[in-house]
Amino acid sequence: MSIASSAAVGPPPGMKVRLSSNESPFGASPLAIEAATRVIHEAHLYPDDQSVALRAAVADHLGRPAEEVAVGTGSAALLMDAIPHACEKAQTAEVLAFERSFVVYRLAARNAGARYVEVPTGGPATLGGDGYARDVDALLAAVSDATRVVVIDNPGNPTGAHLTGDELRTLVAALPEHITVIVDEAYHEFAGGQRGYATVAELGVDHPRLLTLRTFSKAYALAGLRVGSISGPAGLIAALDARRTRFNVTATGQAAAIASLGDLAHLARTVSGTLAGRAEMAEGLRALGVPFTDGLGNFLTIELGTDAGPIVEAYAGHGVGVRPLPPYGMLEQIRVSVGTPAEVEAFLAASSDVLATVPSRG
Ligand SMILES: Cc1ncc(COP(=O)(O)O)c(C=O)c1O
Repeated sequence: MSIASSAAVGPPPGMKVRLSSNESPFGASPLAIEAATRVIHEAHLYPDDQSVALRAAVADHLGRPAEEVAVGTGSAALLMDAIPHACEKAQTAEVLAFERSFVVYRLAARNAGARYVEVPTGGPATLGGDGYARDVDALLAAVSDATRVVVIDNPGNPTGAHLTGDELRTLVAALPEHITVIVDEAYHEFAGGQRGYATVAELGVDHPRLLTLRTFSKAYALAGLRVGSISGPAGLIAALDARRTRFNVTATGQAAAIASLGDLAHLARTVSGTLAGRAEMAEGLRALGVPFTDGLGNFLTIELGTDAGPIVEAYAGHGVGVRPLPPYGMLEQIRVSVGTPAEVEAFLAASSDVLATVPSRG
């Protein structure tokens, strides 16, 4: 499986329980659906190229001026612009990330002609605790003259590992001013208030090239409409915005994203439903004696102690799609997204059969 294709791989269409793509099983806000439906009737019109209303809404949400916000066709597209932009004037450029970070960082580094350097993390989960711990000092030690970008998924996908607010503050303060620092907060809504986690905005950290990525694909459940945002110093945002594809965010995407930001009740239900599902999945796996990382995203990362391929197939036999992780060099792990209560139940019922004989069982 190539790295590029892996980003889009999913369970066969029609799989009963789709827990393979970190989507929200609770669906988009009804207000977002309504807003998108209204504009679909104007499908013959180009969208607002500048996404003025959406940028204003995101800026308002973040408490920053609109000049400090750009939007894109999902945060993945923004990464594909931001990383090459940060590397383009360097003769040799390195993009630095923790091992097993979101796969798009590697793809963007490749497009930039940059070397992708991974900082080793802790080992896999054990029955006693989570795996893949991140070490800020190890990352700082890996910074070289060629480093142009440091990119952190916080919390990370597919490991769920995170840096605490204190660790993030230490990291940003120690990074030289010419390095672009990208903090990808795709899952922050599920992480807030837990285990020392804090967003860039909450910390109020400052760095002349600090960019924060957000997405509407996860807690806002608009993955199919492709909307993400990036915020940072106005000059840097303007330079990034200048290189995006024109008319990049669709009219339906703009309308739905704006409406989503206004539906706080739906967001709260999604987050509490996800956290409850995550806790239930964790409890079920603990009862089965299988080690896993109970990270801060909307998913768990399970240690199998055996080739994941047949396990993924076995889950598929039960109508449950889970994610194999070969693009991350994780051949004996799977990632399972939190589903609805019924989906969680189906996953746990399948697990007691599928995981019955895995060697990792304690
Ligand atoms: C850490 C992380 N960042 C960014 C994204 C991309 O999200 P999107 O392009 O849908 O905004 C994902 C999607 O899985 C992710 O896990």
